[in-house]
Amino acid sequence: MATSSCSRMLMVSLLLSSFIVVSFAGNFNQDFDITWGDGRGKILNNGKLLTLSLDKPSGSGLQSKNQYLFGKIDMQLKLVPGNSAGTVTAYYLSSQGPTHDEIDFEFLGNVSGDPYILHTNVFSQGKGNREQQFYLWFDPTADFHTYSILWNPKSILFSVDGTPIREFKNSESKGVPFPKNQPMRIYSSLWNADDWATRGGLVKTDWSHAPFTASYRNFKADACVWSSSGSSCKANSPPSGSKNNAWFSQQLDSTSQGRMKWVQKNYMIYNYCADTKRFPQGFPPECATTNLA
Ligand SMILES: *[C@@H]1O[C@H](CO)[C@@H](O)[C@H](O)[C@H]1NC(C)=O
Repeated sequence: MATSSCSRMLMVSLLLSSFIVVSFAGNFNQDFDITWGDGRGKILNNGKLLTLSLDKPSGSGLQSKNQYLFGKIDMQLKLVPGNSAGTVTAYYLSSQGPTHDEIDFEFLGNVSGDPYILHTNVFSQGKGNREQQFYLWFDPTADFHTYSILWNPKSILFSVDGTPIREFKNSESKGVPFPKNQPMRIYSSLWNADDWATRGGLVKTDWSHAPFTASYRNFKADACVWSSSGSSCKANSPPSGSKNNAWFSQQLDSTSQGRMKWVQKNYMIYNYCADTKRFPQGFPPECATTNLA
């Protein structure tokens, strides 16, 4: 008895030390590193604002200091204004290595007055090819808007200003790997992609408008922070020690599903799960559970 309760205590303390659930409004100095761009990325206002910029010689990028294994992660972005054609602002979670997992938002710029494309993708164990693209129902360059990733063992939910736009459900029961074992960092970068980004590469970056700048604020993470002790969030047990862990089992209620359908019906411009030319032999298995408009 004594041994088993002792080992249980040891297990509990190991679990507690292996990941800390954090819930805080972030400070960019504490939570992020500017990783490339030779001064083109800047942390301003005592860590409250971050900007990335791009000119002809280089773009710039950031990554989070922490690695996360599940979480609800919000960031406010204000995208490159004016003629942003050819530029791409990527904001994503990713693990490392050839069988990495990744959850992507990518914002494809456009000439003034024409719409950005919000491109999304999910990679699990190195395999992506799950693109969905949207127009937005507002001008993403006029002000900050909140882009959120809710990642728990049951699903990955992409939201914009609290409105869900895409759900990638756990379809392991259909043989589709789901990101749940590899901790991910948050990354963002602004770079030149005028070979494909705007109207499929037809519109090139107009460097006379450089530098191009995207801004970030109000980072917030309710998340399992992963540390190197080797343990991870268990698929079926919510993280202990947090009052804010509703996200760990959160799923779409019918109101949110209705709003997601509204977005998908009115703003979705590409869905791999509807691309019959690309998948003549039948859609990938997860498409059966993808919420279609
Ligand atoms: C840019 O504007 C054109 C014309 O309205 C549109 O077809 C395209 O989807 C827009 N977005 C991008 C990123 O090309």
